[in-house]
Amino acid sequence: MKKRMPAASDSAIEQKINELLGKMTPEEKAGQLHQTHKSCCSYEDMMAMVRKGRVGSILLWGMPTGRADDERENAVNEIQRIAVEESRLGTPILFGLDVIHGLRTVFPIPLGLAAGWSRDAALATASIAAAETASAGIRWTFTPMVDISRDPRWGRIAESFGEDPYLCSELAFAAVRGYQGEKLGAPDKIAACVKHFAGYGAAVGGRDHTNSNISERALRDIYLPSFRAAVKAGVATVMTAFNDIDGIPCTVSKYLLKDVLREEWGFDGFVVTDFQCIDYLRLQGIAADKAEAAEMAIKSGIDMDMVSGCFNDHLVQLVGKGAVPVEELDRAVRNVLRIKFRVGLFERPYADFNLAGKIILCENHKKVALEAAEKSLVLLRNENHLLPLSPDIKRIAVMGPLSESRSELLGCWNPAGRSEDVITVAEGVKSVVSPGTTVFTGGGGFEDTLLTTSSKADAVILVVGEHPLRSGEGRDITSLTLPAGQEELIRRVHNCGIPVILVVMAGRQLDLSWAAEHIPAIVYAWHPGTMGGQAIANVLFGKVNPSGKTPVTFPRTTGQIPLYYNCKRNIFGNPSNMQNYLEIARQGPLFPFGFGLSYTRFDYSNLSISPDTMTGNSGIVIAADITNAGEADGEEVVQLYVKDCIASVNRPVKELKGFDRVYLRRGETKTVKFKLNEVDLAFTRSDMSWGSEPGEFIIWVGPDSERGLQGSFVLK
Ligand code: BGC
Repeated sequence: MKKRMPAASDSAIEQKINELLGKMTPEEKAGQLHQTHKSCCSYEDMMAMVRKGRVGSILLWGMPTGRADDERENAVNEIQRIAVEESRLGTPILFGLDVIHGLRTVFPIPLGLAAGWSRDAALATASIAAAETASAGIRWTFTPMVDISRDPRWGRIAESFGEDPYLCSELAFAAVRGYQGEKLGAPDKIAACVKHFAGYGAAVGGRDHTNSNISERALRDIYLPSFRAAVKAGVATVMTAFNDIDGIPCTVSKYLLKDVLREEWGFDGFVVTDFQCIDYLRLQGIAADKAEAAEMAIKSGIDMDMVSGCFNDHLVQLVGKGAVPVEELDRAVRNVLRIKFRVGLFERPYADFNLAGKIILCENHKKVALEAAEKSLVLLRNENHLLPLSPDIKRIAVMGPLSESRSELLGCWNPAGRSEDVITVAEGVKSVVSPGTTVFTGGGGFEDTLLTTSSKADAVILVVGEHPLRSGEGRDITSLTLPAGQEELIRRVHNCGIPVILVVMAGRQLDLSWAAEHIPAIVYAWHPGTMGGQAIANVLFGKVNPSGKTPVTFPRTTGQIPLYYNCKRNIFGNPSNMQNYLEIARQGPLFPFGFGLSYTRFDYSNLSISPDTMTGNSGIVIAADITNAGEADGEEVVQLYVKDCIASVNRPVKELKGFDRVYLRRGETKTVKFKLNEVDLAFTRSDMSWGSEPGEFIIWVGPDSERGLQGSFVLK
């Protein structure tokens, strides 16, 4: 990656920072670098620290923000008043909260959002999350998480945008712009925090909080591009990862925090650790005590300490005895203050409950949540066009453990969503069927009732999957099968002989190999948020044509993990070894990356590449015609993949390099164009330099990572 000069910072802000810094005591400086949380001390002690200027930020988890729109239940303004009016310098507190996929209006989990393959939806949902959060006085959120996730055993895959660096980078860029705007400072925007820097998704064995083994090349080619994209979008803050890479904890990786982030990428916001990470250096056997941990962290480039207290307790002494140069302390304080100024905290330190009351969960926000949920739904199977169902169907059963769930639809990060806001699948179905249709519900917990009722219906919508607490932080699993008893339930309902439509909600891709062979229609719904039930009903009954595509590869069995489409080339597929060949063929994915069906048919034709040789800085344009050749209007996610045929290192079998969402009325044809430049072909070469290599490239334009029109071009 090329070196970039640090962005020129707003000089007026730099002046204000210098003025404020000049007035600060060492204690107040250390205080700015301290993020506290209710687990650290009592509320009274916390307020005493705020008064003394010993707190820079508060992590609001567990504090009364749940009713963010209700003044009586939101502590933000009272705490802020103490900071602004009762502390010596009146520096406001930067409140932080994990608003990962919406505050009160809850959107699909990030993995579901990624299944929507929509930059617009990523931007729109982040904008709304920002507006609701800002109105509640919270100006900082810890998202987007851009960890490339190739292991569905890992619970935090739910919070990710999936397995692909390009898709993840595009959505990261859009999300940062949604939270922050083009330039931070608008009243309805907040500071984003890209995390977890870096390689957290590569946790060994999918076990959260373990180490990652990542080569420098894989780090550069696979794990860093999405962070780079967030920095390019102007992300205000970066969070380090819990893990180490090759023995160096990310929290003290000078390579990541100084060489890459500051020097190469020119990042000028602040770096916060993940929860307790400075203290965890002791557990990682890197620091003997908290003072040593604090010294290592600040010298490695950490600016803010998330709740460990090591900075607040030790920095003043460390600077006093010369172990930490005062310049390091000042650097960190400058970085933190820069973001406080940029986000407008000094001008607008308080929540605006009037505004909050008007915008939180307003109709427009719900509409965006509905559209994002609709886009996130992936139609995995639809034998004999069982779907869409007719709204005039006589008797429909909506059954299964998640058919009438509410809070479960809100997913694994949910700081303020309320179950009473949620539309269940059963309610959604009732709202779209004709007045004459009988909808059987209930029986979620009672299998006998369920079977008896189901057998009276013309079709059964069976809603199964994971409780959201089965995914997320620390929620790793060892087998990708559905939760206990659910596959058995599906088999028994299937045995009733009525057509079954399976809806699966989950925080990861699950092993659906049995269902994929026997159940005629399958919709993958992730955890779809407040409007999820309505979105599912709209798709099942054809009000909306499904258009989601898998952002991860679905394996046939847990033992296939890791399984991802952009793997390296290998010699096992050699046809001269028939046995191996068959074994490999059998081991292909159940559903490939980028896969998803529609109620209509999209035909691809007229691939063109012009010119067919790429020279110097002039790019090429790859175009193809997409025709809606079926019976319904619909949207298709058109994907571009590239293979570098011969290179100095073993390169992936193919890599996503572009995608576009196109809406086509039935019968309509549109030409989709992708521009490809030399930089898009760059990778870490055998000598570890970053760049492309001349030669032949194969490209595919298609509906998923396994199909498409094929062509080639030459890079001179
Ligand atoms: C998680 C972060 C999160 C932080 C604050 C940590 O445990 O790893 O992703 O932002 O807590 O809630």
